[in-house]
Amino acid sequence: MKETIDFINSKTNNFVPETAIVLGSGLGDFADDYCDVAVPYGEIPGFAPSTVKGHKGRLVFATIEGKKVVMMQGRFHYYEGHPIDRVVYPVKVFKKLGVKNLIVTNAAGGINPNFRASDLMLITDHINFMHVNPLIGPNDDTLGERFPDMTEVYKKDLQEIALKCADKLDIKLQKGVYMALTGPNYETPAETKMVTMLGADAVGMSTVPEAMVANYCGIKVVGISCISNAAAGITGEVLSHQEVIEAADAAKGKFKSLLLELVKSI
Ligand code: HPA
Repeated sequence: MKETIDFINSKTNNFVPETAIVLGSGLGDFADDYCDVAVPYGEIPGFAPSTVKGHKGRLVFATIEGKKVVMMQGRFHYYEGHPIDRVVYPVKVFKKLGVKNLIVTNAAGGINPNFRASDLMLITDHINFMHVNPLIGPNDDTLGERFPDMTEVYKKDLQEIALKCADKLDIKLQKGVYMALTGPNYETPAETKMVTMLGADAVGMSTVPEAMVANYCGIKVVGISCISNAAAGITGEVLSHQEVIEAADAAKGKFKSLLLELVKSI
């Protein structure tokens, strides 16, 4: 960790970000608009290179409207084969850099029948269905406690701010529970039915490990999903990564405006 922090500080001249943003599939462009210093993951000690198409794989540091921000342009997914520790390592690095707020974003399959492709959804809570827990292992008491509370992973005050930002911009912001499966395959129709019965509004392959670790470390989390498709079996259409990227692309304009407003407001 010390090596990671020293390396990052040498690249950024000891920049202390207040807010971190994880940019999900097809949503990475935001960082291109506000890039002061970019550090590819492959160069950072302790980071692995990101392998997913549509994810650039770098940390981007910027001051946006006076707010100091670090962005992950692409994230580490468990389905890439990274151990879960590696998936959440950047969040621990953010904590050590001084980050107070984390905005997590992703592309997700819609479960709630009221959702349409390219809708944005405010994450109100999550279900960890990845059958892996990033907090397992010896506890690092400098980061958080052994048995962390998860009553309010997605902080109510940040949710209120996000809803106000959306309202101000006239962007419809759905609300719901995000459930994470490991992927990399999309669900079978029977699994979609299971996800529905278990109480989720959207399903995806990320976000939950990072949000859990952020909450554990005392970083306030707010999450936004871009609903890229109806989950498998709902419409009978087959799914493709291309479709996910295209739907994220179509939502890009409103996503970027909402993100900018959110960064300004928290
Ligand atoms: N399922 C899981 N993850 C996803 C989906 C989906 O339908 N769409 C985008 N990410």
